[in-house]
Amino acid sequence: MEEMKTVETALQKDIEGISTIEELNNFKIKYLGKKGIITELSSQIKSIPNEEKKEFGQKINILKSTCNNFYEEKKKEIEEKLLNEKLSKESIDITLPATKIPMGSPNILEKIIEEIEELLMSMGYDVVDGPEVEEDRFNFELLNIPKGHPARDAQDTFYIEGEDILLRSQTSPVQARTMLEKKGMEPIRMICPGKTWRRDDDDATHSHQFMQIEGLLVDKEISLSDLKGTFDVIAKHLFGSTTTTRLRPSYYQFTEPSVELDISCFNCKGNGCPICKQTGWITVAGAGMVHPNVLRNCGYNPDVWSGFAFGFGAERLAMLKYGVKDVRTFYQTDLRCGKAFDRKEANND
Ligand code: DAH
Repeated sequence: MEEMKTVETALQKDIEGISTIEELNNFKIKYLGKKGIITELSSQIKSIPNEEKKEFGQKINILKSTCNNFYEEKKKEIEEKLLNEKLSKESIDITLPATKIPMGSPNILEKIIEEIEELLMSMGYDVVDGPEVEEDRFNFELLNIPKGHPARDAQDTFYIEGEDILLRSQTSPVQARTMLEKKGMEPIRMICPGKTWRRDDDDATHSHQFMQIEGLLVDKEISLSDLKGTFDVIAKHLFGSTTTTRLRPSYYQFTEPSVELDISCFNCKGNGCPICKQTGWITVAGAGMVHPNVLRNCGYNPDVWSGFAFGFGAERLAMLKYGVKDVRTFYQTDLRCGKAFDRKEANND
């Protein structure tokens, strides 16, 4: 019993001097381990007279639980201290500048195509697709450009197999495909944005692969003024409401009459500048009234049906709208092509 008193005092003293988990574990071993002080003490119960055994047992148990309580309390205290130390070291400095995560966004070429698609869809046009590897029949023959015709030379076509399978040199073959497919479901209103290829040497304004946006409308009593009106809406939508348009006579095999579609220069408002080559006008598309031969080739009686068609160069539109000087910029995985386009940045000036 005497010894128990001493042990209790020693417990108190020891626990006070403990500040690490390691010391705490040693403390537990020292008192409650296999050969620990309290363990040894409790084994003395054997040599104690029977009448004192009960009291001895109770006291030993109290001593054990005092030791355990000390241990648990200290453990909590140390762990809390360690956690606080860790938290204070890991504290977040919210005044530090954040790391910028690069964000993806649509390529500006895609953006301009989507703009035109959305506008024309709101006017009842369908957006359609056509094969990029095309048959000579659709790319040329049905469009009133027979084999051996000199108009073919202008397109410098890539042939894939013999004379019949080629990489389409324009999106106009989709006109013929759509007219054949939609026979009996008139009126036809479609646009087809897509890739086209020509054997061009690549430079700042030419690329062997480029994109066109084809448009076609076939109905009864369609006239050139319908084309002009539609073009006017597109031009104002893309280049601002003060933009004016004009049609200039031109020549294409598949339209009669054929025109070039010009917009007033958005840069100088018609006064003359390098963008419009001092003319005040910028050509953005070829167009015209669908040639009677094309209508006939696709099964439409030109006395009943008429229509207009147009073909925009997508790169040209994007270059004009965003001030890109080199067409190759679009195809060089230049991330600036996806950002809100900064003219200066993209042109390196
Ligand atoms: N396909 C012509 C080209 O590549 C552009 C064009 C002109 C398309 C007149 C048309 C059109 O639909 O009617 O130069």
